Amino acid sequence: MGELIRVEHLKKYFNTPGGKLHAVDDVSFVINEGDTLGVVGESGCGKSTLGRTVLKLIEPTDGKIFYKGRDITDITEKENKQLRKKMQIIFQDPYSSLNPRKTVSELIADPLKAFHMLDKAGRAQKVAQLMDVVGLSQRFANSYPHELDGGRRQRIGVARALSLDPEFIVCDEPVSALDVSIQAQILNLLQDLQRDRGLTYIFVTHDLSVVRHISTDILVMYIGAMVEKCGAKDLFKAPLHPYTKGLLSAIPVPNIDHVREKVKLQGELTSPIEPKDECRFIARCPYATEACKQHMPEFQEVAPNHFVACHNVKTINNM
Ligand SMILES: Nc1ncnc2c1ncn2[C@@H]1O[C@H](COP(=O)(O)OP(=O)(O)OP(=O)(O)O)[C@@H](O)[C@H]1O
Ligand SMILES: [Mg+2]
Repeated sequence: MGELIRVEHLKKYFNTPGGKLHAVDDVSFVINEGDTLGVVGESGCGKSTLGRTVLKLIEPTDGKIFYKGRDITDITEKENKQLRKKMQIIFQDPYSSLNPRKTVSELIADPLKAFHMLDKAGRAQKVAQLMDVVGLSQRFANSYPHELDGGRRQRIGVARALSLDPEFIVCDEPVSALDVSIQAQILNLLQDLQRDRGLTYIFVTHDLSVVRHISTDILVMYIGAMVEKCGAKDLFKAPLHPYTKGLLSAIPVPNIDHVREKVKLQGELTSPIEPKDECRFIARCPYATEACKQHMPEFQEVAPNHFVACHNVKTINNM
């Protein structure tokens, strides 16, 4: 399968009264067609900003975004709108992203209307079909979002994202607001859709256990920067960055294949505003040395398809 998304040295800085906030700071990756890149990290590390910038919902400060090899960083508004059909987003909170005064069928028809796709009868047919695809019974067609439970509301979000037959979907914490039992249903739905339609995903979550089975590769972010990226299996089997080890240590034991040591995440998060040229994890890292203060570690390939930004990665992991 070919390359669908390529991101090179992507940056998104926000101007704040305290200075430039580095929400996304030099992020690069490639996602092949049909694959899923899991993006994990704590609240505020830049996951949503990354997803939205890749979709061109926010303008990047610097760096490049390619779609099927085509540079889409500086395309026109009109081209952007065409691309919008191919690239969609599913939000965490279907409650706030759905207009409470519209019925389920109206909500699912919205994107089709916005793009002037199909006539009224055609749209009705497509909406009924989409409801089937996402497992929403037709008896909810005239219901309002508040009349449905969280799982069904998220199915509306999925149907809306699918309505324009996209190729790429950013799933931004799509199950984080749901009960654990419902989470599995929505995850299964997203996986089935990916298989049936050859979809490519970025799957954003703060919960590593959620992306374990759905991801091809996993990218771990810390204060806007990439700290580790590798195949999903490798991340759980052999996490190399102290921060990833810490995230994994927080998952209950039956979910982990093998963790060599427990790393407890403590201490203050460094501010993302005008961060110093040092390792951003320094304040919380049990392995920090003098070198970590000298400059920010490079993101390097330390094993095949396994990238880590840590000055001491070799000593910590006996490599
Ligand atoms: N429009 C904005 N203006 C200024 N700062 C912003 C803006 N949007 C996001 N930020 C800041 O950028 C950083 C990254 O935010 P982002 O929402 O991408 O994080 P996140 O990883 O998705 O967090 P969460 O897990 O809470 O959703 C945060 O420090 C946030 O406060
Ligand atoms: Mg977010």
